[in-house]
Formats: sequence, structure tokens, C-alpha cells
Amino acid sequence: MMDVGRHPNIKLLAYSEIEDISGYVGNFKVRIRKKARYVDEAQCTSCGDCVEVCPVVIPDEYQVGLGSRRAIYLPFPQAVPSAYIVNAEECMGQNPIACGKCIEACEKGCIDFAMSDEVLQVEVGAVILATGMDLYDPTALDEYGYSSYPNVVTSLEFERLICSGGPLEGHLGRPGDLKFPRRIGFIQCVGSRTQDPERGNPYCSNFCCMNTIKATQYLHDAYPEVESTVFYTDLRAFGKGFEELLIRSRTSGVKYIRGLPGEVTEDPESGDLHLMVENTTSNRLESHEFDMLVLAVGAVPGRNTETIRQMVSLSKAPNGFLREAHPKLRPVDTPTKGVFIAGSVESPKDVRDCVTQASAAASRASILLNKDQFSVDAITAVVDEDLCTKCGICARVCPFSAIQWNKGELAEVITAACTGCGTCAAECKFNAIQMRHFSDQAIYAQMDAMLEEDPEETIVTFACNWCSYAGADTAGVGRMAYPPHANIIRTMCSGRVNPEFVWYAFRKGAPVVLVSGCHYVDCHYIDANRSTTRRVDGLWDGMEKAGLDPSRLRLEWCSAAEGSRWQWIMECCEEKRVAVSSAEIEESRQILKEKKTPGPRNPRPRDEDQPAGFRCLACGESWDGIYQTSQERVCPRCRSNSVRWIRKRK
Ligand code: FES
Repeated sequence: MMDVGRHPNIKLLAYSEIEDISGYVGNFKVRIRKKARYVDEAQCTSCGDCVEVCPVVIPDEYQVGLGSRRAIYLPFPQAVPSAYIVNAEECMGQNPIACGKCIEACEKGCIDFAMSDEVLQVEVGAVILATGMDLYDPTALDEYGYSSYPNVVTSLEFERLICSGGPLEGHLGRPGDLKFPRRIGFIQCVGSRTQDPERGNPYCSNFCCMNTIKATQYLHDAYPEVESTVFYTDLRAFGKGFEELLIRSRTSGVKYIRGLPGEVTEDPESGDLHLMVENTTSNRLESHEFDMLVLAVGAVPGRNTETIRQMVSLSKAPNGFLREAHPKLRPVDTPTKGVFIAGSVESPKDVRDCVTQASAAASRASILLNKDQFSVDAITAVVDEDLCTKCGICARVCPFSAIQWNKGELAEVITAACTGCGTCAAECKFNAIQMRHFSDQAIYAQMDAMLEEDPEETIVTFACNWCSYAGADTAGVGRMAYPPHANIIRTMCSGRVNPEFVWYAFRKGAPVVLVSGCHYVDCHYIDANRSTTRRVDGLWDGMEKAGLDPSRLRLEWCSAAEGSRWQWIMECCEEKRVAVSSAEIEESRQILKEKKTPGPRNPRPRDEDQPAGFRCLACGESWDGIYQTSQERVCPRCRSNSVRWIRKRK
């Protein structure tokens, strides 16, 4: 921290909040609110005279509520800058000054209640997000008695209790009565690795096992008389030196019991804790007594992750952490150019991994900033000014906010920010946006070629570059045989599939059209595949209105690893292809010759249309449900994504 504070190239804005981030790679504009600390940070020597006279005493957040602080305080001992802050909401009053004792006590005259928040505008070329994570609150897990018994603490609270800078200044004591705890139990996976959303999160929080093992070693070294017992489902000690530490902990006398306690009760007289557990190694029900229990709580996304995610247009994983551009090849990049992530904003991590990622993100950002010119792939969108009607729809659907548009003005693509997903080109009804590659012309030419001869033999398949096309590859590499009638047209994203392509394929005699892409959380263009679902919904409506069987159009999500799913999709499409008769194909050709693009194109669900239901076009299953744009629709019976939203009929 001190090094960061002194570094000539680092400007540290402590006690500040980001209010907005706009712009694009190389040209980000960041609005920052530097909060008034009411203490001149250049003058303050942190002598502490002001703290001694402050009459307001409140729980200290840094000590997780186990200690107290005043309304004027140092956030934590190593804070940079080392200057006090007055919390305006906690202070007894500044205007008029109701107390003012700190002003009188400060000989250097550092305290100034006339200070106000400062709003700064900063221009930067790249942004690194390292906003961290929070810890799971175990209050909901009644059986551990966290909210009822004072001697049940979380791992973070335990850290503070044993820390020399903590509320007990390093003298171990339990919170209930400050008695020295001779028997300490540790319960692992609290709020982690559960499929019950009421009891936590499904993922492993990564650091909790090693944190507990480290704590048991510390206790063994500092307080050999303490007996430590760890209750776990399985211990995950992967990483350099971790297994060795676990062996040391085991051989030093720490007991490891496989099984999580079902109930904790307290002796109200002594404050001791009684715990029942099924030892799954011996298959016996055991009872244990402890002076103190430590819950190894898991991690959850940081409070501000969602706000910051929206500011820089990033996507998040289903667990709420931010998604990287590629888990193996670009782990600190994000889909938004110029924005990098480091540490546990991406997933729960220990310190070592966070430091590694921070170094990687800083290197990636400096590589970017050291370039005189920034090159982009030539797959970006371009606006045809003659055709643009200034409607602005393209700007609204762009997942990266790469299209600038003001009412009454032509749309303008910021090439540096455009990633070439093609969502804008698919959405524009006036063909005013074209892609430099994967152009309409190229896609129509591919369809012409594949439907020129025996079109009834062809399944026109749109596959996104990143997942479904790779899924088809995986099926091929794995020698998973599937019917050969699918002809694939590759697009960067399923969001590129213009409804006109689908109408064109049917008009040319295709019996079945498949639109495929990444699963919702995997789309490489944030949420572009949500637009795909909306458009396919419109196509199904249009097909029904025109007299075409909507089940001839399939929508399926398939990841790069799901070769067997691709095989299954192909088999389903083939089954449909065989079922579509030549007469039906001819009839639809005639219908579509007369009507150019029948039916609504982009229906949007309205509140009055809810509640509604869904029907699987693959197997015919129907069920009730509410339309949610954020949720991937999956048939509970056959697992197909060709699930049609049925609106309420008036
Ligand atoms: Fe595959 Fe968007 S990248 S659907």
C-alpha cells in the first residue's frame, strides 16, 4: 500500500466512488466522486488526538463489528493516506456544529467541516476492475446458531480475533465472555457447494479450506494447548505447498472429521457449544463439545459488482461474478475492449491468484496503452448513410454501446469499440448496417449455393463461431456420427442471424432451418443471444400467421464441449426434415412468394400478456411460465431450446 501511495505513476484516490464510466478503448471517461473526509489529508499526521475526544462510539467495520471506533477514525491501521476521516452521517452534527470537540483537539487545524464532495472527470485508456468479493452471511443457516450464539463466529471474525491489530490485540478469547477457548471447531463449506439456493451457492469458494488449515497451524504454533477439530465434506488443498501444509496440520494433532454438523446448541450457563455430526468415514453419529465454533464462510460477488458491470457493459456468470473474455486464453480480458478484470471480481480466489491476475491485468493494460495505434479485426459494422433512417434501434441493441446515435441523427459505429457480433445488422429493418465480413451478401450466396439443388435435402444451419460451430467440431473430432444434411453457415454470434435470412431459406425451399449459438451465459457478446431468442420468437409467430409449421425453425444452444448435444440436435433436425413433405415445402414457397416477410418481426412481451405459457416445438410439451429475457428457455422433457412463448389470448 505504501509503495502504491508513493509511486510517481499511480494516483491514488482513496475514499472515492466511481459514478460513471463512458467511452471506449483508449478513450474512457470516468466520473469519480471524491468524498469529503473533513480532514486535510496533507496536514493530518494521524496523531489520534481528535479520536480521543470524539463522543460517538460505533461498531468498527474493519473489525467486523467486534471492536468499536469513533465518528472520526482511521479506516484501518495501514490506510494510505494515513489521515483521519469524519463520517458525516455518524458525526453529531456539522451545521451548526453540535460538538466540535475534534476541531478543538486538533492542534494543526486539519479538521474542516466546510469541505464538500468533489466530482472528478478522468480520461483513461484502459480500465482494470478489481472490486473484490464479499463473504456469505451465514445467518440463514439456523442449525449453526450464528445469529443466536455469540461464540459461533465466521472465519473473518476469527481472523480479527487472533490478529495482533484486532480488537483483543492478539490475545485469543471467545467473543461471548472473552474466556480462552481450549476447544475450537471449524465447519467447512458454509454457504458454498450446495444446490439449495436457500443455503448458499453451488460453487466452491476456493480459499476456505486453506484458510482453515492455516488457522489450525497458527493455533498449534501460538497456543499448543488448543484442540482444533475440522468438519469437512472434502478438503481441497491444491496449489504450491498446500498439501504439505495440510499434512503438517494433520500430523500436529488437528482432528479432521468428514461430515458436516446437523445441529449446534449452546449451554446457556457456560456458553459452550454442543454439536451433533454424522462422521461419514466411520458412519457413526458423534457428539462434540467446543468453546468456540468457526464457520468457514464462502464468497459472494461484491456489493458493487453489478453497478460497475453495467457501467462497462460486461456479462456476468450465473453465480454473479464477472465473465472473462476466454477462460483459458484471455483470463484477465473482458469482451469489452480496454476493460480488464483482476482478482475475485471474476471468481473467488486466494491472495496468490489475485496478485497473479493483478500483474497480468496491469501487463495487458500497459501493452494496450503503449501502442501508438490500436488495430481491430476487420469484422466491424458500417452504416450506410443513404439507407439509415435515424431510428436508433441499432444503438439500443448493441451490447457494447459501440453505436453513437442522437435523436434525429445518423447512427455512427465506433469502430474501436465494435466487436463485430452483427446484432445491429440483424436488427436494422432498412439494411442500413452492413458487416465488413459475414456480410448479408456472403450469407445469401451461401444459402443460394446450398439450396440450388435438392433443397428439400438441406437443413440450413446457422452456427455461431464460438460455441455451436465449435460444438459441431467437437462432435466431428469425437467421431460422433450424425445425419449429413445440415449445411452450416458460420456467423460470429447467433445475434447476427437476420430474420430475413430465415425467410429466404424457406422461400428457397429449405424444409428445416436451425439457428444455434452459445448458451445464454456463454455468449461472447454479452447478451446478444437474447436478441436471437426475441427474433426467433417473432419468426415463429410470423410462420404461424403465414400458415407455415413453426417447428420447422429450431433454436438450440450448444457449447463447444457439447459434441453429443450437437449430435442430438442434428438427429432431431433430420427427423423433422424427413417429416416435412415436398408438398408442404412447395406450399410454403408459394405463400412466401406472395408475402414478403409475414407476421410480426420482433414481438416484445408486454405486462398485460403475462402470465403466459411455453410450448416446446420439438416434443410438444406445454407448461405455464412467465417470459423472462434473462433466462434460457429449456424444455423440461426433451431439453430442447426450441421453446415458444405463448402469449395470453385476449
Ligand atoms: Fe455464440 Fe453469441 S457468441 S451466441
